[in-house]
Amino acid sequence: MDLVIDTTAPAPFLPPSDAVLLPWRRLEHPVAWSSVFGRTAPLHLEVGFGDGRFTARRALAHPEDDFVGLEVSSTSVQRAWRRMRRDGVGNVRLLKAPAEVAVRQLFAAGALRSITVNFPDPWPKERHAHHRLLRAPFFRLAATRLAPGGEVRLASDHLPYVAFARDEAARSGVARRERRDPPPEVFETKYALKWREQGKPLCYEVFVLDGTGVPFEPPIARSDPMPHALLAGTLPADAPFAKLVVPVGDAHVVVHEAARALGRDDRWLFRVTLDEGELVQQVLVVAQRRQGDEWIVRLESFGDPLVTPAARGAVGAVSDWLEGTVGLRVVARNY
Ligand SMILES: C[S@@+](CC[C@H](N)C(=O)[O-])C[C@H]1O[C@@H](n2cnc3c(N)ncnc32)[C@H](O)[C@@H]1O
Repeated sequence: MDLVIDTTAPAPFLPPSDAVLLPWRRLEHPVAWSSVFGRTAPLHLEVGFGDGRFTARRALAHPEDDFVGLEVSSTSVQRAWRRMRRDGVGNVRLLKAPAEVAVRQLFAAGALRSITVNFPDPWPKERHAHHRLLRAPFFRLAATRLAPGGEVRLASDHLPYVAFARDEAARSGVARRERRDPPPEVFETKYALKWREQGKPLCYEVFVLDGTGVPFEPPIARSDPMPHALLAGTLPADAPFAKLVVPVGDAHVVVHEAARALGRDDRWLFRVTLDEGELVQQVLVVAQRRQGDEWIVRLESFGDPLVTPAARGAVGAVSDWLEGTVGLRVVARNY
């Protein structure tokens, strides 16, 4: 059977030296930040940089340091990216990534000097408190990525959030509060100005972290090459499908739906959620006819997924369904 797929692992991706916005999924994990910045310098992280005005101001004031910013809002990322280019800020890299995942994936032990969180989303309802970033597990994770004596710095207008963060810091067992005046630019972010105008109190908290004895949670493992399975048989025009939920270790693969590509009889698509704790990915798995009755099942590169154990599990779940429900025969499992 002539079923060949290129299984050579690609060389680690290194972005151009002047790139401000980094495709974090394509980088090596943890990231070799000194290669990205082209030098070794103290590294600081900011979570939720919004329009980036604090980020730019601080980076210009500290050309001797390097700064990484994380955001989940596309609009904010675009705004901040334009600002960095316009203001000629060379020591900032921006990533569209959620902090809970990025801190674990992208930073080696002790890589960071500080983590700044200015005006985090407060999630004011009690039942939503689990969405807040500064919870005990995050402090413990951060403690492993910060160098000894590294800090988490919080600015907020929301007193219940501040009280919550203090309690969670104490509960984490790795944090000590330290009284410190905020640098002026902290209370001049977009949100700081908005809350000040509304007469809200602005608070600043510094937590000094010590990760001694905290087990290091490694980045979620990724595998190259792309997982795939080879199958043989004939796909029918239709097949009964019901949502599949498949455990993969501590994670879950959910295959929500299957669809045949319009006008084609050689391609089926499966919409899948990979739920690995903090890392949740929406991906497509495809079953594609190669020739005759030979089929390959693989992860689509669409969406630039991280190839994690659950991603491999998704290829397995779809292959098993094609075998068990549709009647194809799995001839090779490479996942
Ligand atoms: C209230 S705004 C504050 C923005 C900015 N720091 C300021 O002070 O103007 C909170 C920001 O955090 C971002 N954010 C929320 N959750 C996040 C997460 N898990 N990781 C990274 N950014 C996040 C939101 O998209 C939003 O831009």
